[in-house]
Amino acid sequence: MQLTIALSSPGATARFAETLAPNLRAGDVLLLEGEIGAGKSHFARAVISARLAALGRAEDIPSPTFTLVQSYEAADLEIWHSDLYRLTDPGEIIELGLIEAFDSALCLVEWPDRLGPDAPAGGALLRFRPGPDPDARQLHIDAPDADLYQRLKTAASAVADQDQGA
Ligand SMILES: Nc1ncnc2c1ncn2[C@@H]1O[C@H](COP(=O)(O)OP(=O)(O)O)[C@@H](O)[C@H]1O
Ligand SMILES: [Mg+2]
Repeated sequence: MQLTIALSSPGATARFAETLAPNLRAGDVLLLEGEIGAGKSHFARAVISARLAALGRAEDIPSPTFTLVQSYEAADLEIWHSDLYRLTDPGEIIELGLIEAFDSALCLVEWPDRLGPDAPAGGALLRFRPGPDPDARQLHIDAPDADLYQRLKTAASAVADQDQGA
């Protein structure tokens, strides 16, 4: 199931992430594709911030560029934010515990192409592309899981509605 949405500004991307965040749960995997500067981290940070803010927590969301993985305990939900750009040895994915986390945590994965055959089949692909102007992005969503697709679609329509009303 696929859908493309326009994210007219960094704020729109954040709004999409914040609308989606409360509806995400353990076992959801979002595979974030796009070139450097596409907005993958911006989106992931907004999801994590929203979940932490809902618990009254305002924390730094460091980039996992060098650690490959940053994890967060958001009450009973574990959130894993990973950036696999610098992954060299595919065995590292297993060492990091990422394979197990796909089942037990909410996982936000930048550069998921590095997973190769270890990419989870039920993961939703979110591909960020340049938009019509420098502050805009096109987000193409491809989610094989109907339930996760529905939650992504609901969040997308909230952004579209707000953009139209603005
Ligand atoms: N519509 C948009 N959505 C997300 N980020 C945007 C958008 N327009 C401009 N940007 C900017 O693009 C940059 C994206 O950086 P980042 O999220 O770190 O990219 P990536 O993780 O994909 O390399 C940020 O500086 C952000 O402010
Ligand atoms: Mg990034």
